[in-house]
Amino acid sequence: MPLPHPPSSNDAQAEIEYLRAEMRKLQSLASLGELMSTATHEFNNVLMTVINYSKLGIRNRDDASRDKALTKILEASERAAKITNTILAQARNRSESMEPTHLGSIINDSLVLLEREMRKYRISIETELDESAPPAFASGNQIQRVLLNLLINARQAMPEGGTILIKLARSSDEQWVELTIRDSGSGIPKAELPHIFDSFFTTKSGPDESGKGGTGLGLAACKEIIDAHDGRIRVQSTVGRGTAFVIRLPIANGQQAAA
Ligand SMILES: Nc1ncnc2c1ncn2[C@@H]1O[C@H](COP(=O)(O)OP(=O)(O)O)[C@@H](O)[C@H]1O
Ligand SMILES: [Mg+2]
Repeated sequence: MPLPHPPSSNDAQAEIEYLRAEMRKLQSLASLGELMSTATHEFNNVLMTVINYSKLGIRNRDDASRDKALTKILEASERAAKITNTILAQARNRSESMEPTHLGSIINDSLVLLEREMRKYRISIETELDESAPPAFASGNQIQRVLLNLLINARQAMPEGGTILIKLARSSDEQWVELTIRDSGSGIPKAELPHIFDSFFTTKSGPDESGKGGTGLGLAACKEIIDAHDGRIRVQSTVGRGTAFVIRLPIANGQQAAA
């Protein structure tokens, strides 16, 4: 969507609109950046595996070592293909169109990108995915960015390791698909809760060693995206116990798809 030109300063309303649009662009870039840095990092790790096992296969000429090296190289390459597919899907789907979307596969794609990072920080991921949950009316790309933001926040709230539970279900009133991301991390103090969705609100001193977080734009982008889906995002948190973000997205129905 092209942005309007900067308005003259006497037109305050137009100026606010202009700045809002600029802010949305910033938020969207921040969430895309989080995804791209995760994917690039993972891709690099996979390449290291390929390089190391290739060296091993060249050094050791017996069949057993070579079989093992080739098997590892094959597995790593298949993982690399999955990672590139995620990036290509993001690039291809520029229109960010809404369509009936199975969130289960979005969750699994996101875990492909994050499983190694989570292992490194000693975080175990549990999933409770209701296979019969209906598709949501959503942009898969955008929901994937929301999910990555929430998962990275959860990881950063557990510097000593912990558990993340990802749950997908149909809401009890049958109106929504409900996605819950629960961590066993630091929790959020009551005084901060009203501000966490504000742009630039952060309690982090800057990006961590993998270049993530610290901008205060992640949750603002999540809220923007969920609002654009006519969905809901809410948070429950207890200091010292952990935090849960619950997202509700409208269930896809025939009318939306035809619209
Ligand atoms: N899962 C979580 N556990 C504890 N605090 C959180 C969690 N998610 C978000 N927060 C708090 O909300 C703030 C804003 O999050 P976010 O908008 O993603 O920005 P950033 O990650 O760049 O700080 C974080 O700095 C942190 O204080
Ligand atoms: Mg964040």
